[in-house]
Amino acid sequence: MKICKTIADMRAASRAARHSEKRLGFVPTMGALHEGHLSLVRAAKAKCDVVAVSIFVNPLQFGPGEDLAKYPRTFEPDRELLEKEDVDTLFAPTPEEMYPARAVTYVTVEGLGEKLCGRSRPGHFRGVTTVVAKLFHIVEPDMAFFGQKDAAQATIVRRMVRDLNLPVEIVVCPIVREPDGLATSSRNAYLNPQDRKSALALNRALSEVKSRFDQGERNASSLIATGKQMLTREIGVHPDYLEIVDPATLDPVREVTSSALVAVAAFVGKTRLIDNILLNP
Ligand code: PAF
Repeated sequence: MKICKTIADMRAASRAARHSEKRLGFVPTMGALHEGHLSLVRAAKAKCDVVAVSIFVNPLQFGPGEDLAKYPRTFEPDRELLEKEDVDTLFAPTPEEMYPARAVTYVTVEGLGEKLCGRSRPGHFRGVTTVVAKLFHIVEPDMAFFGQKDAAQATIVRRMVRDLNLPVEIVVCPIVREPDGLATSSRNAYLNPQDRKSALALNRALSEVKSRFDQGERNASSLIATGKQMLTREIGVHPDYLEIVDPATLDPVREVTSSALVAVAAFVGKTRLIDNILLNP
């Protein structure tokens, strides 16, 4: 696996892939890799000839008081995992390499960026779309792979790609869960054993909403109330939001008459976790 620390090196590697007419797949990550990331890498390997992964903890998507400083940085184990998956190129730039001094240019997906996590994390999605646009320009992939766990992120990135006519196909892969149902996340590493148990409330709340839906309930307020009840019942879990939205616009729906996304974010102790499920009538 070739490790590129500079933009110039990464550009040279992807140029070489394109010269040999290879389909280039790209998995952007912030490292602290888990099975969720590896499922994206495997999907990229299955669909593309050459796979590049980036590891970059993007300061721009963390707000003041968030976990930028303590975000897990596990480069060596991550590198080993990617070697095992037979990844071709690892792009691991420094913040100084990615952001020229006094950079003032951002990519904003207006409207969508303020919904769901964007409401409680102002500027978060602007940080995501700015870095993803930059990564797409540097790596120039044919396909890029994102996880359904960050459903709003996937919707917003798709919209950016459409609006800016970026020549990359976005592939969204299913959520990977631990055997007990907890969605895999780099932030699960923060959970102490008690929080780890309490964190199951997110998936339980979503499953309860889904089962009420499967029994015929279509009213979003009533479904949301069911989910919130499950969340607040668990000591140490403080819901940020539980919403039912249109997966394309992220606007709340009143009645679930077409495919809808149930998205939840909650603090478990000090750790903010997210999860979601799709309802298909
Ligand atoms: O999903 C993530 O890990 C990040 O938001 C991403 C897409 C790598 C951008 O920093």
